[in-house]
Amino acid sequence: MQGLSFEQAWRNACECDVLLSENEGRLLYRLVREAPENVLEVGSRHGGSAVLMALAGAHKLTLIEPLARPQLLLSLARFDLLQRVHVLNYHDTLVWPIWTSELSFLFLDHEHEYLDVRNSLVGWRGHLRRGARIAIHDYVVFEEVKRGVDDLGPALKIVDRIDSMVVATWSDDPSLRTRRKSRSMTLPGKSRRSARSSLARS
Ligand SMILES: C[S@@+](CC[C@H](N)C(=O)[O-])C[C@H]1O[C@@H](n2cnc3c(N)ncnc32)[C@H](O)[C@@H]1O
Repeated sequence: MQGLSFEQAWRNACECDVLLSENEGRLLYRLVREAPENVLEVGSRHGGSAVLMALAGAHKLTLIEPLARPQLLLSLARFDLLQRVHVLNYHDTLVWPIWTSELSFLFLDHEHEYLDVRNSLVGWRGHLRRGARIAIHDYVVFEEVKRGVDDLGPALKIVDRIDSMVVATWSDDPSLRTRRKSRSMTLPGKSRRSARSSLARS
């Protein structure tokens, strides 16, 4: 896809109800520019961040969004992206077991619960190319997101941070293990049960 300037891409993303601050948008734009080959977004909502990444110049962009949201399709159509971006209307837990291509960059912006964050990070790990960056949103705003990320250190290392977004990368040093899962789960029973049923092992 043809890359626009950040200012143009951001203006268009704002028209699509993007849920990022401008600083976060700028960082996301830069990360896509640096690794545009095969980009995946988990959690698209109305398509604001997706439009930003497409217009940043992602060569291949896949969106995973379980809810069939008309607004997402309208956002893509508005910028002539409907035929160029792949949308999968499933939870990402159903997609990572059967995914086959190597990702250059992952943007994780879905649930704000500990196990959802942890599971997605672990589940997508094997599909990332060596050194690939993962941008994770809501790290500062939601304690459970922060814990889901921090508990995977030191194997998962935070390399950048702006507002409520962190950028992480998996170490390829096999001696670095992830921490054990925190014992104190604060999830409500229903989400804990559904998340546990799809718990990915690190
Ligand atoms: C915060 S919104 C995404 C905002 C969007 N990235 C933006 O900046 O414009 C989170 C979205 O994640 C979706 N979601 C929830 N669980 C998910 C899962 N397991 N896989 C993919 N998307 C999920 C929700 O339906 C919701 O639309």
